[in-house]
Amino acid sequence: MLRTVTATRYVTPLREGGSLPAIVEADDLGTYVLKFRGAGQGRKALVAELVAGELARTLGFDVPEIVLARLDPELGRTEPDPEIQDLLRASGGLNLALDYLPGSLGFDPLAGAPASQLASRILWFDALVQNVDRSPRNTNLLMWHGKLWLIDHGASLYFHHNWPDRNGPALAVASQRPYAAVREHVLLPFAKALPEADATLSLLLTPEVLRRVVGLVPDEWLRDEPGFSGPDEVRSAYVEYLSARLEAPRAWVRVLEDALPGNAP
Ligand SMILES: Nc1ncnc2c1ncn2[C@@H]1O[C@H](COP(=O)(O)OP(=O)(O)OP(=O)(O)O)[C@@H](O)[C@H]1O
Ligand SMILES: [Mg+2]
Repeated sequence: MLRTVTATRYVTPLREGGSLPAIVEADDLGTYVLKFRGAGQGRKALVAELVAGELARTLGFDVPEIVLARLDPELGRTEPDPEIQDLLRASGGLNLALDYLPGSLGFDPLAGAPASQLASRILWFDALVQNVDRSPRNTNLLMWHGKLWLIDHGASLYFHHNWPDRNGPALAVASQRPYAAVREHVLLPFAKALPEADATLSLLLTPEVLRRVVGLVPDEWLRDEPGFSGPDEVRSAYVEYLSARLEAPRAWVRVLEDALPGNAP
């Protein structure tokens, strides 16, 4: 179960974030980075953030705690910026929030290369969830307390913007698609242990684990999905897609290995 908090104060927007996330305070006295359901990609970005984020945690990566955050649109009443007011007004109900890591720094590969095992595991994970947001310009990795933290998974799982037909070969084909952003991945030059990462991580993501993680997504982010009878059917579709992607032999892992420096065909 994820914790649910209520946002009590809008502190400041994070202007560098494309979706205009914000630092907020909540009724548990915590400080969070809130991702608004009313932002550009809407609820699906929150689903991706939650599912990919919790899968990453299951795989042993450091990910800030993810909570559900209730928001009263009235919170923005005194905000002078009309863009922020609109965002808050469009985001009543449940939003997603990540524990704010105070004093964290953006990861800089020039300042210190990560261990090859960790780099390989992160690359494998990003390829699994097809996360297109881990480039040198925008690493979405934070250094905090001497460790590397993974954030910003809203641009992963993009198959959910165009669900493959679940009956017939379409799902099997779609689920094996190569990871399109591999060449821009900030950790590609350091990922020298991909076979080990694949062998270790693929075993951890059993169907039970996938069901548990997808089960954390609240109904209200899954309602009214065209072509689906209700939230549970959408959840099943996420589990089916990810299970198919994890099925051996994983063609997308081979493509990943070919992209490694020195391995180009
Ligand atoms: N949990 C956190 N703790 C501290 N800082 C954070 C946290 N989450 C995000 N940030 C900071 O806020 C910035 C924007 O957050 P994030 O990348 O999640 O938003 P976004 O709108 O999806 O961004 P974009 O799409 O532009 O990459 C991050 O680059 C980071 O500097
Ligand atoms: Mg980001």
